[in-house]
Amino acid sequence: MEQKKQKFTAFTLFVAIIAALGGLLFGYNTSVISGAILFLTKDFNLTVFQQEMVVSIILIGALVGAYVGGLFADRLGRKFTLFFTTVLFLIGTIIIMTSHSIFILFIGRIIVGLAIGIVSMAAPLYIAEMSDPKHRGALVSLNQLAITIGILLAYAVDYYFADVNEWRSMFAFGLLPAFLMFIGLFFIPETPTFLISRGKKERALIISKKILLNKSEKIVITIPKDKKVSSWKNIFEKSVRPALYAGIGISIFQQITGINIVIYYAPKIFQMAGFETATTAILATAGVGIINVLMTVVALWLIDVLGRKPLLKIGLIGMVASLFILGLAFMFATKILHIISVISLMSYVAFFAISLGPVAWLIISEIYPSAIRGRAMGIATFFNWASNYIISLTFLTLVASLGTSVVFWMYAAIGLLGLWFVVKKIPETKGKTLEEIQKYWKKSTAKR
Ligand code: BGC
Repeated sequence: MEQKKQKFTAFTLFVAIIAALGGLLFGYNTSVISGAILFLTKDFNLTVFQQEMVVSIILIGALVGAYVGGLFADRLGRKFTLFFTTVLFLIGTIIIMTSHSIFILFIGRIIVGLAIGIVSMAAPLYIAEMSDPKHRGALVSLNQLAITIGILLAYAVDYYFADVNEWRSMFAFGLLPAFLMFIGLFFIPETPTFLISRGKKERALIISKKILLNKSEKIVITIPKDKKVSSWKNIFEKSVRPALYAGIGISIFQQITGINIVIYYAPKIFQMAGFETATTAILATAGVGIINVLMTVVALWLIDVLGRKPLLKIGLIGMVASLFILGLAFMFATKILHIISVISLMSYVAFFAISLGPVAWLIISEIYPSAIRGRAMGIATFFNWASNYIISLTFLTLVASLGTSVVFWMYAAIGLLGLWFVVKKIPETKGKTLEEIQKYWKKSTAKR
């Protein structure tokens, strides 16, 4: 009973919030373009292809960044990696907001994309290593909450500056969280895991004690002495393989079940469903953003109580059902179509927000051995961004060739596959220390 009432220490909450500003930057910078693109198109006379490039180049930057971030995190430290990413955000944003040619605009977008990719893996990684096992789920998911708030903030800022045709200010707003995070990072320490890997045991112990409520408890961190263990080869070693595949799989399923076609194309979907004015479509989109935030708060509360797997299962079943109904609504286009389309899109996002949204990032931050955690997370995150790129690039073409209903049903079918994957391949990690999770994989591969 007593354990349930335990709260995390103020110290852990503070460091988690600073790292989660990375999530805010991730969410803000991926979404701000949706409002800015109209004005950029006018100012720079962009062709359709150039518009697509401006929007999607960030995803290419992010997938490269994820990989690089993993390397940096293992070699140079978690904190250094976070610092590096805030500097990239600041430089990239300044380049974008002061650009007067398409070329410079592209350069800025690539730099911000790299920063997004790095921070998307480094922030959950940092928080996971700074959390006690009983609250790790909620603390790491603060990052997902910040992503959803960032997305909503971008909608609001775009809406505000749209009237005055001010795309530069839309991007400039992103400097604020980047600067806050940069300053905040001076006040947070390196994680115990990384310190130990560099032989700084005493410092690691001091930090671990600050994380734990019950000071007599211990966070045991084992870093193999054999230097070879942390070489690239070892990431693909037999004992690590199932964990690696589980992380890659959950990252891919987070994307290929279609979340970003809703996040990126919601106004378009609402227009296809019969909303006449762009304004009502945009308002309905804001509704989607709000549900995303609110349901992520619910997830934070449930994730360490119910566990990761039950949330994934409930969420996937709900997402599949919502997509199925959405497909039906488009098939029998009637007057009530827009009501049904709004309700099913909202419920789809709600189910994503309590499951694949936070849990996919959480799982990849906790299932890997400490010696290779950064790089393995980087690889899983690479697949997350690559799948995001493929899905967002193919959506409109698929709708044009297969029809809207079939496309939504296709995502529903993929969701069912995801459910099977979760049941078979994802272990429950609730309440376990990162080291206990490591042992689980060792045992499970030894059995084979
Ligand atoms: C995903 C993003 C998505 C966001 C929506 C994140 O977990 O990685 O691709 O846009 O959730 O809330």
